[in-house]
Amino acid sequence: MRELIAAAAKSVTGRHGADFPATVLILGTGLGGFGDLIRVRTAIDYGDIPGFPVPTVPGHRGRLLIGEAAGVPLACMQGRLHAYEGHPVQKIALPVRTFRALGAKTLIATNAAGGINPGLVPGSLMAIADHINFSGLNPLIGPNDDAIGPRFPDMSAAYDPRLRAGLAEAARLEGIALSSGVYLFTTGPSFETPAEISMFAAMGADAVGMSTVPEAIAANHAGLRVVGLSLITNLAAGISTTPITHDETLAVGAHSADKMSRLLLRFLPMIG
Ligand code: HPA
Repeated sequence: MRELIAAAAKSVTGRHGADFPATVLILGTGLGGFGDLIRVRTAIDYGDIPGFPVPTVPGHRGRLLIGEAAGVPLACMQGRLHAYEGHPVQKIALPVRTFRALGAKTLIATNAAGGINPGLVPGSLMAIADHINFSGLNPLIGPNDDAIGPRFPDMSAAYDPRLRAGLAEAARLEGIALSSGVYLFTTGPSFETPAEISMFAAMGADAVGMSTVPEAIAANHAGLRVVGLSLITNLAAGISTTPITHDETLAVGAHSADKMSRLLLRFLPMIG
């Protein structure tokens, strides 16, 4: 792992230089448009970074953008990697660990999610307060490298409370409604059954999705502060009266991307 991280970091430094941003943003399904708001200095295809998996899902470019947004240095994964694509979660952790090795301190992970809490209708934004890993997958399974982080990392404040307060303040200043809730991670790619959603509701989940948790675990392990932000693109199965489709996810993403972008642009300068 250490060699993989070093090789990936060297390839990024070779193209961009040594001044890697302190903040990294991962754009979720349908949210790649934020990339247009970045003053890009360097764009690198994942395929050109050794070990980086390449996304296969419509709505996900596979580019690392490095530049600035709202005057803040920012690296951005335009296109995320999902376990359901067949990427081992250990590989999904590689970009996060590489960013840490390059000096990043904060990870903002965005995603599209289904709303379980009745208050979360399509177009709602939810700050992730905590997560439930319902996948049986964990990127830390395997030998531990103590130089990256501890064997048994604490996850009791996996989503940084101070940054969450900052995000809430940014939402208030922008006049954007922002809920806070628990994100439940399943592998997908099939959407959930109504029975599963009833169970997840009873377990305390507010939203459900197929990403973010592997990166959040790897980031906590490596000592990065994490912010999670979900765009609710549909009512979860059984709550919705219509079938759930990926096209709907992309359409709501496109429709509400502007709101998420405004929130992020307001929030970025508050991270310090
Ligand atoms: N379930 C899982 N993942 C999702 C959903 C959903 O309903 N909507 C967007 N991503």
